[in-house]
Amino acid sequence: MHLVAISGSLRANSTNTKIIRAAAALAPAGTTVTLYERLDDLPHFSPDRDRDEKTAPASVAHLRDLLQAADAVLICTPEYAFGIPGSLKNALDWTVSSGSLNEKPVAAIAASPLYSGGANAHAALLLTLTALGARVPDAGKLTIPTVNAKLSPDGTVTDPALLQDLRGLVDALMTAR
Ligand code: FNR
Repeated sequence: MHLVAISGSLRANSTNTKIIRAAAALAPAGTTVTLYERLDDLPHFSPDRDRDEKTAPASVAHLRDLLQAADAVLICTPEYAFGIPGSLKNALDWTVSSGSLNEKPVAAIAASPLYSGGANAHAALLLTLTALGARVPDAGKLTIPTVNAKLSPDGTVTDPALLQDLRGLVDALMTAR
């Protein structure tokens, strides 16, 4: 069982990266987890670049290969200006033609310091995952309001209800594959 975890934040002290690490740590023994940390390496998506395989950037091939080999994918995104960060959307756009997420079990989380829980970004992410043909189980959808109050500085989830939600989400992802 191989799980790929993607944080939509490039920030060094990202709450979303802490959440994705905490969620991935709840996967059953024997699961290998790869935290994808190369969102920043991807060029801006263009259909012209996508069409020409000879000039397809190595970073794109790396992302596609990683997703193709994954049994399940975990995404946790912040909300910027009511949407998902451009760098995450850019990565997802690169997977349209490759079909890397088609039929793939994916869990979708949004985390925000606000009470909204990043609901706009979550809805946007789910819409894009639908376009990509990903399989998102109902229990694999989660918004996390006031995330800062639920994490210790080292990234430990201190909120018991959130920990339970993350357990349920990872379980749903494992049984969806
Ligand atoms: C934000 N933030 C934010 N939060 C939110 O819930 N809805 C929003 O629309 C926005 N918009 C927004 C725009 C910009 C430019 C910034 C820098 C921030 C706040 C955001 O949720 C917060 O910075 C999180 O901590 C970002 O996630 P990471 O980096 O901690 O994972």
